[in-house]
Amino acid sequence: MDQLIKDIDIISGEEAQAVDYKTTPEENTGKTKKIYIESYGCQMNFSDSEIVASIMKENGYDTTADFQQADVVFLNTCSIREKAEQTVRNRLNHFNAVKKTKPDMTIGVLGCMAERLKDKLLEEEKIVDVVVGPDAYRDLPNLVNAAEDGRKGVNTFLSREETYADIAPVRLNSNGVTAFISIMRGCDNMCSFCVVPFTRGRERSRDPHSIVAEARDLFERGYREVTLLGQNVDSYKWSPEENNKARLNKKEEEVSQVVNFANLLEMVAQVNPLLRVRFSTSHPKDITDEVLYTMKKYDNICKYIHLPVQSGNSRVLELMNRTYDREWYLDRVKAIREILGDECGISSDMIAGFCTETEEEHKDTLTLMDIVKYDFSYMFYYSERPGTLAAKKYTDDIPLDVKKRRLNEIIEKQTQLSLERNKLDIGKEQIILIEGTSKKSEFELKGRNSANKVVIVPSEGLKLGDYVKVKIKDCTAATLFGEVIEINPAVA
Ligand code: SAH
Ligand code: SF4
Ligand code: F3S
Repeated sequence: MDQLIKDIDIISGEEAQAVDYKTTPEENTGKTKKIYIESYGCQMNFSDSEIVASIMKENGYDTTADFQQADVVFLNTCSIREKAEQTVRNRLNHFNAVKKTKPDMTIGVLGCMAERLKDKLLEEEKIVDVVVGPDAYRDLPNLVNAAEDGRKGVNTFLSREETYADIAPVRLNSNGVTAFISIMRGCDNMCSFCVVPFTRGRERSRDPHSIVAEARDLFERGYREVTLLGQNVDSYKWSPEENNKARLNKKEEEVSQVVNFANLLEMVAQVNPLLRVRFSTSHPKDITDEVLYTMKKYDNICKYIHLPVQSGNSRVLELMNRTYDREWYLDRVKAIREILGDECGISSDMIAGFCTETEEEHKDTLTLMDIVKYDFSYMFYYSERPGTLAAKKYTDDIPLDVKKRRLNEIIEKQTQLSLERNKLDIGKEQIILIEGTSKKSEFELKGRNSANKVVIVPSEGLKLGDYVKVKIKDCTAATLFGEVIEINPAVA
């Protein structure tokens, strides 16, 4: 069964919030109890579910893909937009019916919605037994045990230190080729629309040794690509003094100086030239030329940057508290093009209809898209989140139909640009890493090129984890189609 219920390349506001979730796979190692986890939201949340599965595994639980079989059901939730929370509430209603026939089943809400609503969730959703925020997962076994004895529990303590650096994640939904590694947690930016600083707490960076060790271990187990994850990877910073308490792997060679993101990228790239390295998300205010030059120096660091702009208008960007303006953003794009060339993939996130956005200001987003020529984007209309700066300071005054129309214009523009960009690849030879089967045909496999574009190739003679040199023959706005030239060429 395909565990990934919905896998969309270009996400529009409504779709993204509908049913984009992952569930745990079936794993039976003879443990007495079973846990089912359903995960919503961003990659960091999916990555956290792997930490949760690891903690629960240590405490006597196997995973199941069928919640009806589970002793414990966790929903790892997202609060980013209102619809994301609504989806979870609908799921809780659904579980309610099952719980009537299985009263012993423990139901927990984890993640950002747990953090945002805390014990209010227990009051509002009667079937919930435990509510646990993103920094309190080590406490899960205790809370579940207490719930089994009839004591409901909440732990939404936000930590300044927790990075789960010592916990080896149980890889869920793994293709055995690509994996995510969390390199930091939390966010210290205060984008006015965003709930993340409230749900994830202060930014903290994870020990680089534990990151490199995780990448090395993955490589040795056959993985060929890691994506380093953080809300703002460019502000990754680890120093032996500040982070001394968090040092876990004392056997590793001492690091005597501060490790910034460019240094960390280099350390991971050096694990093996056959291990591809990706990262997400870059913040336009923080991405440095040093990072761009490090990307250029290593063939195995993929030439792709997710650089969310949110809006193309400087006044709106100021209201959003993004701390850069249109000119700054375009200057960073210029630096990417100068240092990494036209082939570097660039993608973005866009919000249509933020408070007070005029028609002219919306058009600035469209013209900026034309200048940057994004390969793809995640696009949303603004959804006010309680407690955020925007909710406190501004009126959510753009009518829903206008938000939706503006969003559609942005989506249309992006579809046109994606096709334009993809067409430039036709006739080119590129190296892709095979990571899965094509959704459409059993005789085809899919891989990604360095710029993060999906390339479909005939499957004959290929297996997952192969590097393949392909010649691009055709494309749509979402996909490239290639012909195999050489299997496992010398370079990644
Ligand atoms: N740290 C990342 C973003 C994480 S949230 C960054 O700074 O780029 C992912 C995306 O969700 C954001 O980039 C934004 O486009 C969107 N988003 C966040 N809050 C939103 C809101 N209140 N309404 C609509 N979209 C929102
Ligand atoms: Fe939210 Fe801004 Fe932090 Fe991204 S950088 S998570 S948008 S506050
Ligand atoms: Fe959602 Fe929390 Fe991620 S709000 S987008 S799951 S950090």
